[in-house]
Amino acid sequence: MEYKLISGDYYERVIDHLRGNFFADEPLNRAAGLCQQGGGNRELEHHSLATLQDQLSIMAVDERKDSVNYGQIAGVILNGVLRSGDTEQALDKLQFSCDSNYKKIFELLYRHSLQVDLFARYNVQRIFDVRILSVDSRYRGQGIAKELVRRAEQVARESGYHLLKADATGIFSQKILRSQGFEAFSEQLYAKYRDDEGRIILPVEAPHIKLQLLTKELKYENDH
Ligand code: ACO
Repeated sequence: MEYKLISGDYYERVIDHLRGNFFADEPLNRAAGLCQQGGGNRELEHHSLATLQDQLSIMAVDERKDSVNYGQIAGVILNGVLRSGDTEQALDKLQFSCDSNYKKIFELLYRHSLQVDLFARYNVQRIFDVRILSVDSRYRGQGIAKELVRRAEQVARESGYHLLKADATGIFSQKILRSQGFEAFSEQLYAKYRDDEGRIILPVEAPHIKLQLLTKELKYENDH
């Protein structure tokens, strides 16, 4: 497997990969019924493309010459820059969204993030935000997601970030991030996320039970 930064000429193929894997399989997307397998979603594609443009994202490509899937994108980790005020702004903008399912998912993510000011808590100006972790179903269970997280940390370090953050929506992504030194900072049980009438907003399927916000601080030699 080859791991490389995702350049502009790959954006189209990354979106295709997400349509075939992440859009329908990620636990919150499934719960909201955001997309059919292979189908697109305008807002999630826009969100993914905006993240790609920060040029911090990595893909795993199958470069085995003897593989029938030679050249195939096996997995991606899409990372973006998060600055103070970005989440408040994104939440304001979300009110104009016409996609009620997309809105449900991102309201949960943004409101949960806003419960704590990570910039003040860790005294940082910018955060390396791990937004999308996705592995092609044909390549799962081979450690590709773990390796993508490890490489994302390298990119964060090379770019001088002091804090990585991820909103992990399922039990496996949470386990993968913790195995790479991320720590759970806060969490929201899906069964307790309800509307004014007491109905569960996102009926997420087992074994996934909660959203977890995880962080990892990076230390450098000349840090005090
Ligand atoms: N069942 C049991 N264990 C699993 C599963 C599973 N379905 N998926 C991963 N694991 C465990 C592995 O056993 C392994 O544990 P180990 O190190 O103790 O052996 C560990 O998780 C790492 O697994 P990887 O092989 O690195 O994970 P993989 O490459 O299969 O990708 C991923 C996992 C990204 C969650 C994939 O299943 C996927 O794309 N799912 C759909 C999209 C999704 O939910 N993404 C995460 C959302 S949160 C976010 O994007 C920030």
